[in-house]
Amino acid sequence: MQKNFQEALQDPIFKILTKASKDLNVDAYVIGGFVRDYILQRGTPKDIDIVAVGSGIELAKKVASLLPNQPKVSVFKNFGTAMLKHGDIELEFVGARQESYHRDSRKPVVEDGTLEDDQNRRDFTINALALSLKESSFGDLVDPFDGISDLENKILKTPLEPAITYSDDPLRMMRAIRFATQLKFQIALPSLQAITENKDRIEIISKERIVDELHKILASDEPSIGFSLMHKTGLLPFILPELVALQGIEEIEGQRHKDNFWHTLEVVDNICETTDDLWLRWAALLHDIGKAPTKKFHKKLGWTFHGHEFVGSKMVYKLFKRLRMPLNEKMKFVQKMVLMSSRPIVLSEDFATDSAVRRLVFDAGNYVDDLMTLCEADITTKNPKKQKKYKNNFKIVREKIQEVEERDHVRNFQPPVSGEEIMQTFNLKPSKEIGIIKEAIKEAILEGEIPNEYEAAKTLMLKKGKELGLSLA
Ligand code: CTP
Repeated sequence: MQKNFQEALQDPIFKILTKASKDLNVDAYVIGGFVRDYILQRGTPKDIDIVAVGSGIELAKKVASLLPNQPKVSVFKNFGTAMLKHGDIELEFVGARQESYHRDSRKPVVEDGTLEDDQNRRDFTINALALSLKESSFGDLVDPFDGISDLENKILKTPLEPAITYSDDPLRMMRAIRFATQLKFQIALPSLQAITENKDRIEIISKERIVDELHKILASDEPSIGFSLMHKTGLLPFILPELVALQGIEEIEGQRHKDNFWHTLEVVDNICETTDDLWLRWAALLHDIGKAPTKKFHKKLGWTFHGHEFVGSKMVYKLFKRLRMPLNEKMKFVQKMVLMSSRPIVLSEDFATDSAVRRLVFDAGNYVDDLMTLCEADITTKNPKKQKKYKNNFKIVREKIQEVEERDHVRNFQPPVSGEEIMQTFNLKPSKEIGIIKEAIKEAILEGEIPNEYEAAKTLMLKKGKELGLSLA
């Protein structure tokens, strides 16, 4: 029986699309993510892809002319596509093609295909579902590959032979993994095999497009699905070799360390339960990368990873640079999290003194909560007793942080006595003495020797000045 999804096309824009395509005598269909997400009840997407059996650019222009505010049409001639915005809706138009669809493809655009040619050249059967905009069949589903069953069965299949689909645009290997992660779908076996066989083709894809997919994987609620598929298919070494290096367990003299790759994936999934912050999720993914290059075995100590936090934070920069990710404050945030990732753990293992907590808050500044979130996610022990103990210890550290912060205000520490005042008091020009006095005041506050207050700091300044042999102005 012919399936009809008219109810998905209630927005008045669809009637305008119908009118425009009728005026031009060109058949048009809604295709791709809009249809997929509607059927999956993932809401009504605001990005709508339209395929015209004819010129997509002409259709876009016609639609714009029928809209009351006559929006601007952005034309991408080389790709044969056009885009316009209507309120919060973004319409993307393309002419049906015989050759690969994708706009980033280097292949020439070959238009003048039928709808089915176009559907054939799309990535997955669930993304090739089309709804007719023709008056006589408005809302009818056109689904030559039974994508609707694949949606029901939660499976990702390619319309064509997988090797062809993936070689048309190797980014689709990442898209397959991304959709599998977002939608919790299986990738059909032949597809999985084709990805494994063609993995090295990912090298021709721009880093920006790959990172887009990585972000989407990390933004989903169980990113481990994606990273383990990348691992399984062999894509991961091309993208994040630092993670691959964490995989494996070594044993010497009966001593083993944990598999830091699988541990990392657990940490990432854990953190996704408490935060949507993409960069904190990145920090979880990278928090242990310094462990591979710092791993050592000592007869007495067993396995150690000394300095892995520092090494790891340096690796973050290289990794971001290689992937052409922004080298801005987001990267610095990830570096800081990696660098400090063991600090709360050390505190929680022992009785946390006020001064240790103050130092943590001082060093982490505004990110202290994020750091605690990361450390809590880092608890992956399967031993329920230990799990409870660690969680409780972190709870205590959090309480202490709050207590110390309310009392001492060392988060975003501002020296209670300014350099200016030190200079005036001792009639100094900029000099190293000022630094020495400032440092002494800061240290005394962090150690709890004086309160974080002006009067106490001033007294200490005068004392230190005297010790340094400075005379008052
Ligand atoms: N498409 C494709 N191959 C690609 C990218 C896209 O075949 N490499 C097709 C698919 O039919 C897809 C449509 O173009 O549904 C729109 O692509 P895009 O907007 O990137 O993805 P959506 O499927 O809409 O999903 P999302 O918005 O979640 O990325």
